[in-house]
Amino acid sequence: MNDLLQTIEPVTLMGPGPSCVDASVLAALSKPTLGHLDPYFIKIMDTIKQQLKTLLHTRNELTLPISGTGSAGMECCFVNLIEKNDPVLILINGVFGRRMQDVATRLGAKVDTLEFDWGTPVIVDVVQKELSKKSYKLVAVVHAETSTGVLNPVPGIGALLKDKDTLFLVDAVTSLGGMEILMDDWGIDVFYSGTQKCLSCPPGLSPVSFSPAAVAALQARKTKVPNWYLDLSLIMNYWEGATRAYHHTAPVNMLYGLYQALGLILDEGESHVFERHMAAHLQLVRELDLLGLRMQVDASCRLPMLNAVCIPEGVDDAEIRTRLLSEYKIEIGGGLGPLAGKIWRIGLMGHTARPENVDKLIQALAAVLPDRTGN
Ligand SMILES: Cc1ncc(COP(=O)(O)O)c(C=O)c1O
Repeated sequence: MNDLLQTIEPVTLMGPGPSCVDASVLAALSKPTLGHLDPYFIKIMDTIKQQLKTLLHTRNELTLPISGTGSAGMECCFVNLIEKNDPVLILINGVFGRRMQDVATRLGAKVDTLEFDWGTPVIVDVVQKELSKKSYKLVAVVHAETSTGVLNPVPGIGALLKDKDTLFLVDAVTSLGGMEILMDDWGIDVFYSGTQKCLSCPPGLSPVSFSPAAVAALQARKTKVPNWYLDLSLIMNYWEGATRAYHHTAPVNMLYGLYQALGLILDEGESHVFERHMAAHLQLVRELDLLGLRMQVDASCRLPMLNAVCIPEGVDDAEIRTRLLSEYKIEIGGGLGPLAGKIWRIGLMGHTARPENVDKLIQALAAVLPDRTGN
């Protein structure tokens, strides 16, 4: 094997993603590559669709992984549904809501935004007020805002849109696999996620799902989807039906990895997986508190899988993260945008969400943090 690969040392990935990957998923990636139209591979593709439908709690036929990371899923959802001048409302309280605004604006949508303070959730009443004034083709929100560690009230927003002719788009890049998602019950029409967070698969695929209403909107477009690679009306012909038509060469081995990662979650049992995330989160909060570290986000809307921790005054953000990585082989994340230098982002995602990893991080933090007791 080439030298650079020989000397990769494992890192405990406790940042905002990627997360630790189980050995069985890494082994799946190295299985023999099959042709992308091989009937055996198509069996694996069909199973992945079923696994995703199970985890999303959806009956949506159009449920499949897009080739590309979470941002490709984001682009895919917008590019398939938005045409020039379509009115779109984006609820923003962090980096990824802002990215959705950028993507929708580039497509020529008429984008309105409701902005909420970073570190606080979207307020359903504020959204309701806006929806009573104007109707939108699509409303979009990030379920788990990875840049701040905030959980947004997706079921509450979905309930507002229930009887409206408005599509509800949800970014679940960080939440899928770490907390319950009831796509159909919550009235979500358009969904995308990513593999490298709570699914604990390496980055490279983005599960998406479109409800019948979203598929109808795609079919009712007046103009062609302006992006060939992400055009779901073409991709569908490869992922559905008795005969499969080549669209692009599927990332075959990545899909083996996703198949294995989804299988691990479903075998462990969703509720067990979600409880494991919550238990690791509560343990982390408890133990950080003993070190004198405070959480940035109010307990009522904290994400279990992404913990925003206030960096104490006088502590050098970059130095601590560099020492954790070089001396303890632990990666945590820094803050983004207005929170840069103010918070650490500690991920407890998927395979990483285990008590032994929390212990390891707490011991390392205790060793690298300056003694603030004055002793
Ligand atoms: C909530 C959210 N949305 C979208 C993305 C973009 O995903 P990717 O970096 O895989 O393209 C991320 C990545 O961190 C994210 O956390």
